[in-house]
Amino acid sequence: MGGASHVIARDGRYGEVTEDDVKHFVRGVGGDAAGVVVSTSATATNLQDGGGDALDKYNVDWMGKYHGRSRVAVLPKTTEELSAIMARCHARNLAVVPQGGNTGLVGGGVPAHDEVVVNLGRMNAIVSIDEDAGVSVVEAGVVLEELESAVRARGMTVPLDLGAKGKCQMGGCVSTNAGGLRLLRYGSLRGSVLGLEVVLANGEVLDLLRTLRKDNTGYDLKQLFIGAEGTLGIVTKIAILTPRAPTNVNVALFGLDSFASCVELLKLARGRLGEILSAFEFFDRESLDLVLEQLKGTRDPLAKPCPFYVVVETSGSVKSHDNAKLQAFLKIVKNKRVIVDGVVGKDEKHAFALWTLRERISVALKYAGAVYKYDISLPTARMYNLVTTLRARLAPQFGSGVKVLGYGHLGDGNLHLNISCAEYTDALERAIEPFVYEYTRDERGSVSAEHGLGIMKAEEIIYSKDAKAVELMGAMKRALDPRGILNPYKVLPAATRAAALVPMSKL
Ligand code: FAD
Ligand code: MLT
Ligand code: ZN
Repeated sequence: MGGASHVIARDGRYGEVTEDDVKHFVRGVGGDAAGVVVSTSATATNLQDGGGDALDKYNVDWMGKYHGRSRVAVLPKTTEELSAIMARCHARNLAVVPQGGNTGLVGGGVPAHDEVVVNLGRMNAIVSIDEDAGVSVVEAGVVLEELESAVRARGMTVPLDLGAKGKCQMGGCVSTNAGGLRLLRYGSLRGSVLGLEVVLANGEVLDLLRTLRKDNTGYDLKQLFIGAEGTLGIVTKIAILTPRAPTNVNVALFGLDSFASCVELLKLARGRLGEILSAFEFFDRESLDLVLEQLKGTRDPLAKPCPFYVVVETSGSVKSHDNAKLQAFLKIVKNKRVIVDGVVGKDEKHAFALWTLRERISVALKYAGAVYKYDISLPTARMYNLVTTLRARLAPQFGSGVKVLGYGHLGDGNLHLNISCAEYTDALERAIEPFVYEYTRDERGSVSAEHGLGIMKAEEIIYSKDAKAVELMGAMKRALDPRGILNPYKVLPAATRAAALVPMSKL
């Protein structure tokens, strides 16, 4: 398959899984056969043909873009079991890929080669929910939506929401520092996570699981693991703030005739809605067309098509106050002609339908075929220039067979630039990269706003991070994982990874 991923050679320093290792893993999970899944094909080479191997679901990512060739997946049930498994992998120099719900979009959660998959799906207990403190403690494998339902039943909410909520796990979300649809309201996960328990590369357990809001005892080590994409340790437990859920939520969808109007609307929303503004998302007509084409049951929300759409959500607790604010906002954006048209969700079902048009764009893209995804932070006002520039760049060579879509978390300055096509090809990839990364660098943006670097962008970190910073990241990797067994080939560039490895003779 052309242009689907960066081809990286297997590092010969890593061991290969033997029958003896598998026996150790089975013992490590207390003899529970369900805890160790072994490839059912002799060579596991049939993966790309949909050969039906037991390891397929662990080897292939959500988009079907990244394919590994692991022979074994281990699913521990406790921290102690995971600790024993990691001790074995460390002793045998076996590379490991930590895996949550496998919804990541940068190929970080699937093996690049034959790494042992450590899937956290069976560590899925909600340990505690403290209503008074507004803090919940969960195991890493708890699915985001399940935690949301559990805390909702007690009048609380999770300060994170994303389209993958039915599958992504809290450990995966923490490890990617996922952003999502509520960041505007609750801020980055880095501020909401109060504590972590982590199993290190050598199997040692690092207990940082505090539920304190304030703790200035030196370096905040948990931050190292938030957003580390499984390269520094395996997150096993999380203490997270779960604030009171808003009791009055409104959703409005607007049609606009330019991106500049979307930015103007954001300014007005910030000023007029203030503390009740909880989401501000945008998408272009090309994105909506794809959703309407691919997702059954979706409908054009407004009478006439517009080039841009914005979803605004307000969340508060006093209906009369919130609704009055929203009405005043609607009046002013109409009078100032910032919007062309708009609709307010009349009930929960209608609001859900409006949200769907934005939230499920990534699902529509998946159904439509192959997709090149770029997740970029850029100065808000100029964000959409990249979409139009890329469209103009690709059109002469690729015509209408390639669609360039722009959507994202406008309130956070985060553009999702997506190129939808029939199949991954080297020619298309070369036309997009490194152009998109250079453009982002020149704007002093970030090549990974929220999805992480994974395998897709390990080399591209240099477009957004100073060389000294990357070198320091390498030093951290060396300190925590000197053998480099945790998620190799990901996040750091090859040269930095190689420098971080302690020579075999010194281990
Ligand atoms: P995985 O995909 O399994 O893993 C992701 C990374 O974390 C990998 O590097 C993996 O090695 C590591 N990892 C997983 N679990 C652990 C652990 N316990 N300890 C250490 N490392 C671990 N992302 C956003 O930021 N915002 C969005 O709005 C958003 N929307 C999405 C919508 C859809 C439909 C989809 C498919 C994805 C979306 N994503 C979004 C990307 C993805 O859902 C998030 O990155 C999510 O946090 C990944 O969680 P996961 O459990 O699936 O992790
Ligand atoms: C989103 O905001 O929809 C997600 O980050 C997924 C995507 O970028 O497609
Ligand atoms: Zn996003």
